[in-house]
Amino acid sequence: MRVDGTPYRSIWLDAGGTVTIVDQTLLPFEFATRPLHALDDAAEAIAAMRVRGAPLIGATAAYGLCLALRDDPSDAALDAACERLLATRPTAVNLRWALDDMRGQLRGRPPDERVQAAYARAAAICEEDVAMNRAIGAHALGLFEKHWKEKGGKGRLNVLTHCNAGWLATVDWGTALSPVFQASDAGLPVHVWVDETRPRNQGAALTAWELRSHGVPHTVIVDNAGGHLMQRGEVDLCIVGTDRTTAAGDVCNKIGTYLKALAAHDNGVPFYVALPGPTIDWSLDDGRDIPIEERAADEVTTLRGVGEDGSVGNFRITPEGSGAANHAFDVTPRRLVTALVTERGVCAANRGELEGLYPEMSDRG
Ligand code: MRU
Repeated sequence: MRVDGTPYRSIWLDAGGTVTIVDQTLLPFEFATRPLHALDDAAEAIAAMRVRGAPLIGATAAYGLCLALRDDPSDAALDAACERLLATRPTAVNLRWALDDMRGQLRGRPPDERVQAAYARAAAICEEDVAMNRAIGAHALGLFEKHWKEKGGKGRLNVLTHCNAGWLATVDWGTALSPVFQASDAGLPVHVWVDETRPRNQGAALTAWELRSHGVPHTVIVDNAGGHLMQRGEVDLCIVGTDRTTAAGDVCNKIGTYLKALAAHDNGVPFYVALPGPTIDWSLDDGRDIPIEERAADEVTTLRGVGEDGSVGNFRITPEGSGAANHAFDVTPRRLVTALVTERGVCAANRGELEGLYPEMSDRG
C-alpha cells in the first residue's frame, strides 16, 4: 500500500540480505523503517511488536531464519533458531506454520545451499501472503456488495472492525481490511467503525492510520461502543482477522472480538472473519485449547500518546500499585461466526466446509 504516494510493504529484503520492517511501535506518530541484521533483531521485533499481526509474524520469522543461517547454516543452528523464534509469541499459528514450512524445505539440503534456499522460500512466503490477501479481499468484496444491495444502496456501508488486520498485519493488503480497500477503490461508499482496541490501541493507532492514508472514511470508537451502534442499526457488518482458527471454525483474535461477535449475534448483524489458509490450526478443534498470550501489565496501566508540546510519551492511568491483567486474545465460538472468508472462497465456520475448501488437509488433525 502507499504511504505519502510511495508503495510500501510491511517487510522487504534490501541489498546484501538485510531485512527491513516498518517499526509499528512508532505509528501513528512517526513512520520509520528498521533494519533486521540478525536472528536476535527478528526475534526482538516480533516480541516487542515492532511487527505484529499473524501473517506478518510468520513472514518475519521466515526471514529471521534466513538471518540465523547466514551466521551458521548447521542443523543445530536451524533448530535453535526455530525454537527461539517460536518462543516470541504463542497465539498466532502462522508463526509455527512458517517455521515448519521453512524447516521442511531446508532440512534435507546440504548446509552450503541453505542460505540461498531459505531466502528464496521466505520471499515466496511473502508473495503467497500478498496473493492470498488480495484474493480474500475479492471474495469479501462480493459480500460487501451483497449487503450494500440489501441496504438499497442508500447512505454508506458501515463496517465495524476490531484491532488491525490491515496491510501492516500482513505483508500487504491485510485480511479484514483488504475488502475495505478494494471496496473504496471500486467506489463503494464504505465507512469503517474502528474499535480503538485497548490496551495497545492497534485500531486507533494502526487501522485508523491505514484508512486515513488510503482515504477511506472512518470513525474511531471506544471498545465498548460497538454494541450500542449495532442496536441503533449503525453497523451493516463486522469483519475481523484472526490469529488462529481451529479446524472446526472457532476463531481466536484480539481480546474483545468475542464481545463484538456476541453483540452482532444479538442484533442480527453479520460477523465475518477473514483469514488465509496458514491461520488455520488443523490440529485443533476446540478453541479453548488455543494458548492465549498474556502480556505485561504496564500495557494496561499506561497509555502512549502525543502531548500538547508534540512530544510522544507514556502516561499512567491507574493508581500507583493497582494490579492489572493483560490477556491479549479471546476465542469466538463458531456459532457466532456468520462465515469465514479465505483466499479460496467463503464458507461456514465448521470442519466440513473448511475441509471442502482445503481438501488436502482433510486427513490432518
Ligand atoms: O497482538 P497483535 O497486534 O499481533 O494482534 C493482531 C490481531 O489480533 C489481528 O486481528 C490478527 O493477527 C489478524 S491480522 C491479519
